[in-house]
Amino acid sequence: MNKIWKGRISGNTNESVDEFTCSIDIDAKLYNQDIAGTAAYTIGLHNVGIINGQELKNILTGLVKIKKNIENGKIKTGKYEDIHSLVENELYHLVGEPALKIHTGRSRNDQIVLDERLFMKNAIVDMLEKMLNLQKAVVKLAQKEKGGVMPAYTHLQKAQPVLVSHYLLSYFDKFNRGIRRLIRNFNDCDYLPLGAAACTGSGYGLNLDLLKKLLKFSVLDSNSMDVVGSRDYMADFIYSCCMIMLDLSRFSEDLIIFNSQEFGFIDIDESYCTGSSIMPQKKNPDILELIRGKSSLVAGNLIQIITLLKALPSTYNRDLQEDKKIFFNALAETTSSIDMFSRILPNIRFVNTNMEKAAKSGYMEATEMADYLVSKGASFRNSHNIVGKIIKYCMENQAGLNSVPLDILKKYSPLFEKDVYESIKTESCIDSKKVGCGTASSEVEARIREAAGKISQIEKDVKSLAGRTTDLKEIIAIAGK
Ligand code: ARG
Repeated sequence: MNKIWKGRISGNTNESVDEFTCSIDIDAKLYNQDIAGTAAYTIGLHNVGIINGQELKNILTGLVKIKKNIENGKIKTGKYEDIHSLVENELYHLVGEPALKIHTGRSRNDQIVLDERLFMKNAIVDMLEKMLNLQKAVVKLAQKEKGGVMPAYTHLQKAQPVLVSHYLLSYFDKFNRGIRRLIRNFNDCDYLPLGAAACTGSGYGLNLDLLKKLLKFSVLDSNSMDVVGSRDYMADFIYSCCMIMLDLSRFSEDLIIFNSQEFGFIDIDESYCTGSSIMPQKKNPDILELIRGKSSLVAGNLIQIITLLKALPSTYNRDLQEDKKIFFNALAETTSSIDMFSRILPNIRFVNTNMEKAAKSGYMEATEMADYLVSKGASFRNSHNIVGKIIKYCMENQAGLNSVPLDILKKYSPLFEKDVYESIKTESCIDSKKVGCGTASSEVEARIREAAGKISQIEKDVKSLAGRTTDLKEIIAIAGK
């Protein structure tokens, strides 16, 4: 194995050690960031006179070549310990001696943080774009299902009638918080770690503002010991992934229940269902079940990153190398789940007849009937009691609340008049909830309109974040100016 630290260790390390400590199979994914970071760093070294103009030119050309060679599969990654050694060694093959200068005042400890943060900034933008597609799918469905009614459940027991759009938009709000978390995560890894070196800082008078500009970071880190040993930017991001997965899992669980024959509230297009190898009649919602299942993997990743950090001594420890397995897994599972969910949503049809039927049974107008008595001057607690008794009557007589004759209602309270029947209609139950967060159709219409505005604002925000990411080409272009 081609190592960049062989001076101090005499002879060769045992092969099993090489295999055990090597991370190239995981961190090769960071090649773009490692190469871009190295390009910017070399420009920084040139700026303080460590690398001359010709050397800089050769190194930048070499780095472009290495990137190409990796992408064409011309480099055998297996012979290197990690992505940092790969880039340095390959550069040496291409440009010779000058390559031996690129690690001046830099350590793999600050370098890996740089690679991770650069990678995360891009990954967050990608994930945000996927979240935007998901939000558009949610709003589109809410718009399409306007007018549909269904039961809202608490304790998975029928509670009160609600608009289908209102139910769907509840996920729009959850996902919006997910988006805001991701934007915060982007800002939290927008700090330049270079200059920290191994743990006490670099001694070569580097112009960190220049590096910050080249790599498009917004802020300089202010403590080298913190930089090389902290991964909270990653833990925060994995928490965000985890919350998105939990929300997707709960949405999936709702839809799996709604899709059951017992509920029959939704129908999923066959192109998004699977069959059974033994039961010919089956049409299963496997995608939703897998998303629910994958949420447990990402929850596991959150525990992994937290326990990785717990009780580590200050600054860099090799344990931190394991962070990438955790991070890449959370990223891959979350991204594919968001993507899949936004694809399945347009393939879901709400079965209005079944939902409406369900929304009109189960005494869900009971709260409205109590509210009616309140509007006639009764206290809510007494009204609640009275309606509870009427429901008992209904159960004994197999009647619905709306079919109890007025003279019987009057026995329970003299405040009942014939307008009570109008006030407990499903539509009245829904339209009486005229608060900003309520299910009244006028409110839900307004929320749907606002959602479109929120989406276009997020689109702008994501575009501006995308402008704060960088790549090798851009760095070389700035250097050329
Ligand atoms: N592969 C290492 C990681 O991912 C890079 C830093 C190695 N530093 C060291 N001192 N061995 O964390």
